[in-house]
Amino acid sequence: MQPTPLATCPCSVVVFASGRGSNFAALLKAQQRGKLPIRIRALLSDKPTAPALLLAENAGVAAAALSPRDYPDRASFDRALFARAAEFSPDLIVLAGFMRVIDAAVIDRWRGKIINIHPSLLPKYPGLRTHQRVLEAGDTQHGASVHFVTAELDGGPPIAQVRLPVLPGDTATTLAARLLPLEHRLLVAAVGLFAQRRVELGAHGVEIDGRVMTTPLCMTDDGMLAAN
Ligand code: GAR
Repeated sequence: MQPTPLATCPCSVVVFASGRGSNFAALLKAQQRGKLPIRIRALLSDKPTAPALLLAENAGVAAAALSPRDYPDRASFDRALFARAAEFSPDLIVLAGFMRVIDAAVIDRWRGKIINIHPSLLPKYPGLRTHQRVLEAGDTQHGASVHFVTAELDGGPPIAQVRLPVLPGDTATTLAARLLPLEHRLLVAAVGLFAQRRVELGAHGVEIDGRVMTTPLCMTDDGMLAAN
């Protein structure tokens, strides 16, 4: 798939992260190097101690944490979090290691504007412990997916995936370590497509260049996204 010229108006992005923030850092680096037509406006977290917040602060990106304990229920917290995000007028919200299920009504209001990265070849292994579950199932392939977020946990329509072989002797730790740099490239590439207005969530599923995709794009060894 050939890259198209970068959009003139950078795509405004807010990132949600609960922890370490390496996927956020990958997006930030790509933006800083002029490789992505995005402007990351804020990093929001549900964990006041998330290292991702520090990464953002150090990079001069607005950073804030809202604690779910300060809200009576999930829906109230999610409304507050997304209201905070809305202050930055994002074209796109990226869930980069954001480890919470989001209220369905909130998701519906942001349909087509939220993407998530998940460490499995969805629809396999939604939820947690994906690397361990791959090993327990005896799979020979593992990978990561970027998908549009819907109310179903890790169930929204996939945009792109990256695959890696499971090697003899792999553990959950070694698999996670090999997958993480691939996740970074996949997320940057998928956000790039969105920012260039090449991918969107249409009425009949994910559209790439105006055509409904039947299978997710696949990341090649050189980091490009190709049709399957
Ligand atoms: C990543 O592996 C991401 O795929 C995963 O959390 C990690 C966050 O790492 N996300 C999920 O499991 C979401 N269901 P990071 O904080 O270093 O980006």
